[in-house]
Amino acid sequence: MTDVPSRQRKPDACSFVIFGASGDLTRRLVIPALYNLAVTDLLPEKFCVVGIARKGMSSDAMRDSLMKGLRQFATRPVDDVVARRLLECVTSIEADPKDPASFDAMRDRLEKLEANRSTGGNRLFYLATPPNAFAPISRELGRTGLLQQKNGAWRRLVIEKPFGTDLASAKALNGELLKIVDEHQIYRIDHYLGKETVQNILVLRFANGMFEPIWNRNHIDHVQITVDEKLGVGHRGSFYDATGALRDMVPNHLFQLLSLVAMEPPTRFDAHSVRAEKADVLAAIQTQSETEALRNSVRGQYQGGKIGDTVIEDYCKTEDVKPGSTTETYAALKLSIDNWRWAGVPFYLRTGKALGLKRTEVAIKFKQAPFAMFSSTPVETLAENYLVIGVEPTEGIALQFNTKVPGPTIRIDGVEMKFRYKDYFKAEPATGYETLIYDCMIGDNILFQRADSVEAGWQAVQPFLDAWKKVGAKGLERYKAGSEGPDGAEELLKRDGRSWRKLG
Ligand code: BG6
Repeated sequence: MTDVPSRQRKPDACSFVIFGASGDLTRRLVIPALYNLAVTDLLPEKFCVVGIARKGMSSDAMRDSLMKGLRQFATRPVDDVVARRLLECVTSIEADPKDPASFDAMRDRLEKLEANRSTGGNRLFYLATPPNAFAPISRELGRTGLLQQKNGAWRRLVIEKPFGTDLASAKALNGELLKIVDEHQIYRIDHYLGKETVQNILVLRFANGMFEPIWNRNHIDHVQITVDEKLGVGHRGSFYDATGALRDMVPNHLFQLLSLVAMEPPTRFDAHSVRAEKADVLAAIQTQSETEALRNSVRGQYQGGKIGDTVIEDYCKTEDVKPGSTTETYAALKLSIDNWRWAGVPFYLRTGKALGLKRTEVAIKFKQAPFAMFSSTPVETLAENYLVIGVEPTEGIALQFNTKVPGPTIRIDGVEMKFRYKDYFKAEPATGYETLIYDCMIGDNILFQRADSVEAGWQAVQPFLDAWKKVGAKGLERYKAGSEGPDGAEELLKRDGRSWRKLG
């Protein structure tokens, strides 16, 4: 077993300004991730954290609240000395985009604080807020000059998801931001890129000689991308009902998986080359007509049921969900990529809530070997050849192939060769945000989405959004919570003579 080495380079001195400092995301992920970076000595020597707070919240009150959050959400036992040292860096400052004067006052306080802490003027603004605040906050940061890079100091803007709600809104938001900052100053977060197994797709494909020659339409029959969740919508009814499974998961998380699997080899392992290839492959997803989109998709909504011992109520009865809502909690799509590598290879994507299993995986199905050689033997079928990249719950890679069953006659059975991360590497449990936050601080945007990728993702899903909106309840299937999802998802593949890989 190998200990995972920590990267050595400490980020530059900087201030880390969090909008939404009293929100859930900050308590659950950002502060626990900063804590983990502090434990591994990967925070800057000179550092300050500024929490942009509600009116009247003192720095002490903010530190207390963050400490409580840290105790609740830390991924490892909290060492009080390290936690205190981190929280001592926290200062609470008020700023409200509806009150421009508060941003001017914030700039003055921030500049004084930065001079005291000798952070050299480097700053990162982390927008951990609801999405409707992204543009107003950025505008104020622009107006006050807080994002302007000068005297060798860098200024960066980190934006959480969702980035837009459709193609037009994503373009509008990109347009607004790019008036204020340059693309390389923007870090659009997709937490899937913080997952080791997702990052490993690049290494698997491009650091091994044996996969790339067969990674194409000559050898691959189709690709399945599955992100199944057990949890229902819970207390997020109002957000989710306006969003749905497609917007919530596909143009971001599932497309991260798709683009890493389908991209061309970048010439270098750097942000420019990798992001250019990812954007290109997303742009090559065939734009479907609305009729094609309806034919190539399945929508479902969960009804009450049981998952283990947990009773899940009907989606429509969830708090803050409109009665009679036609929002989908499950989506399955068939997509095609129009390029030399992938023409004719379908990509099937599925994701849903309140399903029987939590499972995130990419399954590459290779073409079947010709059966002719075994036609005069008792062998009836050959098992399917899959390469499975497991993201959750098992992090690893499995290869399924056929082998001879020992004995005097020719019998063939499918077997599996498995690599599991935990068998080889000892990694401390983490939030998944450590690498992302560290990369923002060192200025490496390889794991962040570029404007063109985001827009290409929305472009590919827009026909589905439009077509579903027009047909409303028609075609929305119901599935029982705890099941495998709507029947139509099986039909989608059966029509092509294929089936989903069995999970579990
Ligand atoms: C979030 C979605 O972005 O990703 C949630 O808004 C979803 O609805 C979550 O549950 C899934 O992330 P993970 O890492 O658990 O697969």
